[in-house]
Amino acid sequence: MKPGPSLLRHYLQFKDFRAEEYAYLFERAATIKKRFKHYEKYQPLVDRTLAMIFEKASTRTRVSFEAGMYQMGGSVVHLTTGDSQLGRAEPVADSARVISRMVDLVMIRTYEQAKIEGFAAHSRVPVINGLTNEYHPCQILADIFTFIEHRGSIQGKVVAWVGDGNNMANTWLQAAEILGFTVHLSTPSGYEVDPAVAGITDTRCYQIFKDPLDACRDAHLVTTDVWTSMGFEAENAARVQAFTDWCVDADLMAAARPDALFMHCLPAHRGEEVTADVIDGPQSVVWDEAENRLHVQKALMEYLLLGRIG
Ligand code: CP
Ligand code: NVA
Repeated sequence: MKPGPSLLRHYLQFKDFRAEEYAYLFERAATIKKRFKHYEKYQPLVDRTLAMIFEKASTRTRVSFEAGMYQMGGSVVHLTTGDSQLGRAEPVADSARVISRMVDLVMIRTYEQAKIEGFAAHSRVPVINGLTNEYHPCQILADIFTFIEHRGSIQGKVVAWVGDGNNMANTWLQAAEILGFTVHLSTPSGYEVDPAVAGITDTRCYQIFKDPLDACRDAHLVTTDVWTSMGFEAENAARVQAFTDWCVDADLMAAARPDALFMHCLPAHRGEEVTADVIDGPQSVVWDEAENRLHVQKALMEYLLLGRIG
């Protein structure tokens, strides 16, 4: 038996962890990042294997998990729907039983949240959500870590969400409820966040604005995402019509606080959900945000496999 926490924990939604666990993870990610920047070798996961299952495309999630695991001394198995029995209708529960007897940790990017929940229910090892239709917790972990690096605590701050009521929006709401900040939501009609899907109970953690400019007023952070998420491509033409006014441009940034940051989980479409001058401008921290996926996920994998260090 390899050493590690006695209780099996998964990271399937942002609300799977408590505020004090996030405080620990953000501290830990900062330490891991600092050591990495100083070229200090840190390999606590020698002999550990991560299986990564991708049913949707990825650049950042794949590279950050794969590089992170190797840097910590472990190894990685990469599976996709097309090159495994997952694409040939092997039951999720059977896949979970088999894969989790062979590896120490599983990361899954898939469609319905129910699928990852079903996998986790039959897994012997921790399962991490690498994006589902409903949530993207690893991204928000990186985003909040990035905010803290630039501006300090996010508690009491205002985050403006401009665009689709999607997996990122849902996860921002969960984070707001747990960490004590407010999300100003502005989505086109028909693309609103459903609080039941977002999985939140405290209606004080968000406010709804019809006009994206009003949502951005006095925000400490303005953030958006693609108009059409993976899996919703058939709706693209209708979405292009509906989302025209939900583009983060210089006017929206001017409505926010002068020191407001701009974030985007990437990939971005310049000229659609954000203008080039904003995403490539001085308030944008999108490259830090992407890099920080590496550091926070190292802290996350260490936490799930080894528990608290120190
Ligand atoms: N932000 C993000 O998850 O990017 P990828 O789709 O490239 O993994
Ligand atoms: N909302 C986007 C995020 C991509 C990282 C999607 O689900 O495609």
